[in-house]
Amino acid sequence: MLVEASAPGKVILYGEHSVVYNQPAVVLAIDRRANVYAKKRTDNKIFIDADNLGFSGYFEDDVYHAVRGQAWRGRNLAALNVSAKKTMEYLGVEGGIDLKVRSMIPIAVGLGSSAAICVATVGAVEKLHEGGLKKEEISNVAFEGETIIHGKPSGVDNNVSTFGGVMSYAKGEGFTHHKLPREIPFIIGNSRKKRSTKRMVENVAALKERNPTVMDNFLDTMGYIAKKGLNALLKADLGKMGDLMDLNHGLLSGIGVSTMKLEILCHTARKNGALGAKLTGAGGGGCMIALSEEVRMSDIERAIRRRKSDAYRVSLTDQGVTSRWIEDEEMADS
Ligand code: PMV
Repeated sequence: MLVEASAPGKVILYGEHSVVYNQPAVVLAIDRRANVYAKKRTDNKIFIDADNLGFSGYFEDDVYHAVRGQAWRGRNLAALNVSAKKTMEYLGVEGGIDLKVRSMIPIAVGLGSSAAICVATVGAVEKLHEGGLKKEEISNVAFEGETIIHGKPSGVDNNVSTFGGVMSYAKGEGFTHHKLPREIPFIIGNSRKKRSTKRMVENVAALKERNPTVMDNFLDTMGYIAKKGLNALLKADLGKMGDLMDLNHGLLSGIGVSTMKLEILCHTARKNGALGAKLTGAGGGGCMIALSEEVRMSDIERAIRRRKSDAYRVSLTDQGVTSRWIEDEEMADS
């Protein structure tokens, strides 16, 4: 028997970057998930099979040994090693674990892939040891894993991936869960350019250092947009939501986190009927998100694909982290 845990990716609808400076953000869990399978080992190794990402290897005393792919890939897997080890430390147990990662969330493009993998790892390891952790505890332990990748994350990603649903968040105030009056599907355009959240956050910090007053005004306005955007979302007022997405995108461009391709994708989406479009996540590449009436969605998806980008239609999900015991054969099928 082994454990299967699964956690969703996310999009930030309003408030990326400004959330780092204590402004509110609105975050949505999406129906693209990361799965992690866990099984106990008889030694103390943390073996990680991420073969569908092109690498696998194991950590012994926190030193990475590549089995497939190059040794530097250990950097990508370190967050899983830390998530697994911290979970065991938290539970007061020891031992080795085989972890297998299978994710439907593209990596390093702003869709919360690393947080989802960390959350699913903690979920799998705690279940394997019958830890009975509460969701809040899972989220907190996963945060320690994610810190390895992001440096100083705001905490948005691990929380939305753990709890699912629609959340607003502000540092110091924490999270508020929200219920929507109806389903609102979105289109994600992936520019296919990977980027580092840490670097983008550092760039914004440097710009703020050079231009403190102007940047404070930008960031305050982004926070205001996030508050108004949340109201519009809770009323499912698509027109207002779209306006606010466009406005938020303008400010994100202003602080230098957009790219030519993201600009093109946002303009393409709007030209093909989107009510609003903006980059989502740290920017510098990665994804944008578009909102539209159902009837225009296919046009928008096609137009994005014509721009040498991927387009996915995503629905929001209330399902956060889940875990269950499965038979070995079920994993063989996955
Ligand atoms: O691109 P992502 O999914 O890593 O999101 C980053 C969001 C930021 O606000 C830029 C950083 C953060 O920690 O909130």
